[in-house]
Amino acid sequence: MKIGVDYYPEQWDKSLWAKDAELMSKTGVKVVRVAEFAWSRIEPKDGEFDFTWLDEVLRTLSRYGLEIVLGVPTNCPPLWMYQMFPDIVQVGPDGKHIQTGIRAHRCINAPMFMFYAKRITEQLVRRYGNEQSIIAWQIDNELEAYPCCCDVCKDSFRQWLLDKHDTLENINAAFGTSVWSGEYSDISQVQPPTAYPKAWQNPALCLEFYRFTSESTVRYAKELAMVIRRESPKAKITTNTWFCENTPDFYKLFEDMDFVSYDNYPPIRIPSDPDEFYSHAFHLDLMRGIRQDKFWVMEQLSGPTGSWAPMSPTPRPGMILGYSMQALARGAETVVHFRWRTATHGAEMHWHGLIDHSNVPGRRFFEFSELCKTASKLGVLDNTRIVSEIAILYSPENDAAFKIQPQTDGFYYLEQLKYFHAAFSRYGANIDVVSPDADLSKYKVVIAPSMYVNKKSATENIYRFVINGGTLVLTNRSGVKDPNNNCIMDQLPTVYKELIGAEITEYDPIGWEEQTIVDFAGNKFTCRQWCDVLSLTTAKAYAEYNDNFYRCCPAVTMNRYCSGVAYYVGTVCKMDFYESFAGNIMKQTGIPRLKGLPRGVEVVTRTNGLDDYIIFFNNSAENASIGLPKAMYSIMDSVGKDKIELKPFGFDIVRK
Ligand code: GLA
Ligand code: ZN
Repeated sequence: MKIGVDYYPEQWDKSLWAKDAELMSKTGVKVVRVAEFAWSRIEPKDGEFDFTWLDEVLRTLSRYGLEIVLGVPTNCPPLWMYQMFPDIVQVGPDGKHIQTGIRAHRCINAPMFMFYAKRITEQLVRRYGNEQSIIAWQIDNELEAYPCCCDVCKDSFRQWLLDKHDTLENINAAFGTSVWSGEYSDISQVQPPTAYPKAWQNPALCLEFYRFTSESTVRYAKELAMVIRRESPKAKITTNTWFCENTPDFYKLFEDMDFVSYDNYPPIRIPSDPDEFYSHAFHLDLMRGIRQDKFWVMEQLSGPTGSWAPMSPTPRPGMILGYSMQALARGAETVVHFRWRTATHGAEMHWHGLIDHSNVPGRRFFEFSELCKTASKLGVLDNTRIVSEIAILYSPENDAAFKIQPQTDGFYYLEQLKYFHAAFSRYGANIDVVSPDADLSKYKVVIAPSMYVNKKSATENIYRFVINGGTLVLTNRSGVKDPNNNCIMDQLPTVYKELIGAEITEYDPIGWEEQTIVDFAGNKFTCRQWCDVLSLTTAKAYAEYNDNFYRCCPAVTMNRYCSGVAYYVGTVCKMDFYESFAGNIMKQTGIPRLKGLPRGVEVVTRTNGLDDYIIFFNNSAENASIGLPKAMYSIMDSVGKDKIELKPFGFDIVRK
């Protein structure tokens, strides 16, 4: 694993550059990302390029043996451009251009912006395309499927709809515009879903607009990638992503890129409720699943966060090292820390880097330096990979559709996935998080939470998996919508009825209310948010409701279908249910379970085909002790061990 830092030479006096590079190199830093926001320095005036400073930065960094990720700075057009072309600024839901003066104001569909974005990309790649020290290019920064409402976006959206649906009649039919006299008699009447209140918007229109904005973002990144490739065919290209309100479709965004990169800011505050699970392991697994390959962390937690929010606590001892090891365990091949030094100017001066404002390296920096040393000794893991028998399906489209129409109080799509991820993690299982269209044949168990908007290819994929002998878990709110995000007129879960061998006769969206279910062995669990009342056709009841007018009706079912098994979980429970359920499923399918893992301890097994390495990470504030079934060799301490002792955020790696 390589360790890197995000560096902003344009924010520091030139006299610091060589000193910084020297310290980076001495510390063991291998990779430095620069320039992703530096457009105004590179092109101070329209068409006048100044590369002298960047030449010097790159020269200085490479003199110290540092490898470089060069940012394509299109996130921040210089202010002269906004002045010359006010129409390249995004338009908000109020129909007005958003205020400039922060960052990322540009509309990625605006032709003039695109002209300049391609030109700066071309300039950079022509100048630096053959630079040996540049190992990757980062396009823009944290691209969002921003719902811009400018005239260009509106027109493009209308054209996009016509291309997809052919005729206005089809659009009317797809959107069900007979409701509230919403029928379009001319395409120009189609508006982005911005009318107030947002919750009253047409869900079909909303989902199409999300698809349009996501595709626009993907197209934009692809066009810039093409410019880079044209000039430098061997360039490695990525963009750094995160989970935001307008998350684009990750699978499409990274389709033509060389690797995925993720901005990883794990929680600094440890949840006091033992039932609250950590979700960062899940996010990392999701990132690995996008291309089912190694990925990078392009920004990693380095200090107290803050700036637009009050500051968080400082990372506890062990976190800087431990969270990077957690990322490594789950597939990160390079972890770049945000940022080398904390800004003394600008909006982010309270989002801390490794070195504080004082420029005096302190505790966090020393831990980082230990990380660099540790990383350099982990070559044995370089050719290892994660092999999982369990997959959880993540659908960007379902994620978007649930944001458009939250179902009931407390119900969040991603949390449905995280419950299962946390539950299988309790037994030390490797878990992949993949697209519903991924090849599922290599898995024994597939969890398909809330397959809400029906997509034929995904539904067929799921049926195929079970027909071929797989064990599937489907959950509530599946088969609800057709591809236009309209309700399907059929007994739920519609397209999955046959597979689960049961039908939903009624549902009860109970929100925060709590009820109980009882499983086949008499164990009682709390449930909330949603209760599907099931009627069995060929399935058996795994658990039944214990309260309300549907007491004794099935809540969780199990159906044998062809050579496989399909479970259906019709309600949302607390962690104890998922842990018990996951344990049973692993037992049924013969997936080995590590029992008695202390809460918070994460286990990942990596293999090179010959040797297996188990990485233990204590993601908790308590000391943890884990007994091993047999003595194993710790590559961290170079001794055999039959017990692993971990401090808070500590880790160990043993050869199985
Ligand atoms: C994001 C951005 C960075 C910076 C950090 C910290 O991840 O990509 O530029 O703003 O957040 O706030
Ligand atoms: Zn726009």
